Amino acid sequence: MNTLKINNLELTYKNGHQAIQNISLEIKNGMFGLLGPNGAGKSSLMKTIVGLQKPTSGSIDFNDVDIVSKPDYIQKKLGFLPQDFGVYPKVSAYDLLHHIAILKGIENKDEREAQIRLLLEKVNLWDFRNKEVHTFSGGMKQRFGVAQALLGKPKIVIVDEPTAGLDPEERNRFNMLLSDISSEVIVILSTHLVEDVKNLCSEMTIMNKGQVLKTGKPKELIDELRNKIWSKPIKSDHLDKYQSKYQVISKQLIERELYITIFSETEPTGFEPVTPLLEHVYFKTLA
Ligand SMILES: Nc1ncnc2c1ncn2[C@@H]1O[C@H](COP(=O)(O)OP(=O)(O)OP(=O)(O)O)[C@@H](O)[C@H]1O
Ligand SMILES: [Mg+2]
Repeated sequence: MNTLKINNLELTYKNGHQAIQNISLEIKNGMFGLLGPNGAGKSSLMKTIVGLQKPTSGSIDFNDVDIVSKPDYIQKKLGFLPQDFGVYPKVSAYDLLHHIAILKGIENKDEREAQIRLLLEKVNLWDFRNKEVHTFSGGMKQRFGVAQALLGKPKIVIVDEPTAGLDPEERNRFNMLLSDISSEVIVILSTHLVEDVKNLCSEMTIMNKGQVLKTGKPKELIDELRNKIWSKPIKSDHLDKYQSKYQVISKQLIERELYITIFSETEPTGFEPVTPLLEHVYFKTLA
């Protein structure tokens, strides 16, 4: 079992922006979802874990080793798929993986070749191995990114918004791939798609404005809302009135009619009960 322990982590960028505020988390094998809107601090947290930037204060331990002061300890055991990969060099997918495999310390040539072939097949890119990565489509680049992250059989895999830009079929394939490996390693997945977390993650945290707002198992967080979520179609010019009276957690147009969903411990008059979903947990937490 691998354990990643984050304690009282703070990160302030040079311009004074505090992107991570006192975050503590304990993450074990399995898929961990980091859910939050744009600017929540997901990428900042991930880049800090992988050692691309130093925290202002706080600690990060992987299997009881302090990886802030000893980043070498985790680097070869880690796979990272950043949100922006930057510019790809003009070499084929195969050659680039070969190069990365060497950097990751896979010294045996046969072993390198075996791993690269297996991964390229897994991400459905074997037929494109001789093409240069910069000519790939967005989805193909993303799949290439996963292949490079999985090279060297990492113990911790960190993927930053990996499903952004994938079509539904690729997204499914991608999610299954991650789910497959996550029984033996830690996989941290950031996303703003509640759907991905619902389908994949055994543990999750909702963050916003640099802070962790809620952590738990998706199912348990949903259970907390049982019999407390209600919905009603309203006239749009009545919205203000409802917002001042109830804790409105979301608004949705359904066939041009405005539905509001509210959180209420007691039954509000005129509302229909709603079976809680992870979406409700997310909106309630952010509201
Ligand atoms: N290098 C930087 N210098 C200063 N501020 C930064 C820097 N990088 C990020 N920020 C700020 O820190 C906050 C968190 O950014 P971050 O990229 O971590 O969010 P995110 O949750 O990954 O968002 P998204 O879903 O859009 O990727 C934002 O307000 C952002 O503007
Ligand atoms: Mg990000």
